[in-house]
Amino acid sequence: MADLSFLALLLLLPLALLFLILYVIVRPCPVNIPIKNRHVFITGGSSGIGLALAHQAATEGARVSILARSLDKLEEAKNYIQLSTGIDVSIFAADVRDYDAVSKAVEEAGPIDLLIVNQGVFVAEELEKQGLDEVRFMVDVNLIGSFNMIKAALPEMKKGEDRGPRSIALMSSQAGQVGIYGYTAYSASKFGLRGLGEALQQEVISHDIHVSLVFPPDTDTPGFAEENKRRPPLTGIIAESSGAMKAEDVAKRALDGIKSASFIVRCNFEGLLLSIATAGMSPQRSFVMAFLEVVAGGLVRLVALCFQWSWYTSIQKWQAQSKRT
Ligand SMILES: NC(=O)c1ccc[n+]([C@@H]2O[C@H](COP(=O)([O-])OP(=O)(O)OC[C@H]3O[C@@H](n4cnc5c(N)ncnc54)[C@H](OP(=O)(O)O)[C@@H]3O)[C@@H](O)[C@H]2O)c1
Repeated sequence: MADLSFLALLLLLPLALLFLILYVIVRPCPVNIPIKNRHVFITGGSSGIGLALAHQAATEGARVSILARSLDKLEEAKNYIQLSTGIDVSIFAADVRDYDAVSKAVEEAGPIDLLIVNQGVFVAEELEKQGLDEVRFMVDVNLIGSFNMIKAALPEMKKGEDRGPRSIALMSSQAGQVGIYGYTAYSASKFGLRGLGEALQQEVISHDIHVSLVFPPDTDTPGFAEENKRRPPLTGIIAESSGAMKAEDVAKRALDGIKSASFIVRCNFEGLLLSIATAGMSPQRSFVMAFLEVVAGGLVRLVALCFQWSWYTSIQKWQAQSKRT
């Protein structure tokens, strides 16, 4: 009995010590970002996840601005949010690829507390078949457009230290954590956001600005429905493992993650596994998550390898079958 207690102590002591070390060292320090009565600016806020985010933020008492290209869709979104929450929404018609247009919108909207860079376009196709114009389109809207938004909003956001902690959130994708067949351009544009976010966090931390990266799985939105029409069959087979979430559920998870200033915001259980598998050198504020990353890292790598095995087996089978027919 005494031996057993000694063994348990031997096992628990290093874990407790690890917990304590992580509690002391995780950086940046934990922080909460209030949203009530604050200005939330959402790009791509007229449809899908962005619209659900705008609705959720308005429900939680934020002043909401949304930006997208189509004025008609913006008006529709504004009316929908106003009718269901009673909150007025400011709308801005601009293309994120146009720096002058987004600068003007940001100036008109007034100081931003939470900037959610959510706009995105996705066309799945094998690189060999996809035109370079479409590759450029995705990189321009998803990556360069995000730079434009941040460059336009950052100077004024930096001046807002008296308003409390502020946030810059970037809408990535699970295809921004792991490369998926048919997503060469899309994945590249979303992986790029991670580098942007990791470096930017170091540059803005002293201004009490906190960066979040949201990694949704397939989500039922107008954009997703459109993309599905052209998706290569193999992309469907591989991405199927994650299943499609509702935009409202993704928005709720995303906003909760942004409010707790998590650097990596996951939306489902698979997202949890992916965030552990790809933790790498990314910042971590939660010592509990840091503990999971350290302790479960090896096991999650094994799960990741099983996924890779299943994906490559599907690819091999599909290609063998295509050759036969
Ligand atoms: N749905 C998914 O399965 C999924 C999964 C993972 C990640 N995501 C990411 O989540 C974000 C939202 O996706 P969603 O599915 O909600 O898409 P969506 O329904 O197609 O909505 C996209 C929004 O972005 C706006 N937008 C597109 N191009 C723009 C541009 N050049 N300038 C300004 N606004 C632009 C659109 O409005 P206009 O067309 O009027 O400009 C619309 O408001 C994207 O970043 C996407 O990559 C989506």
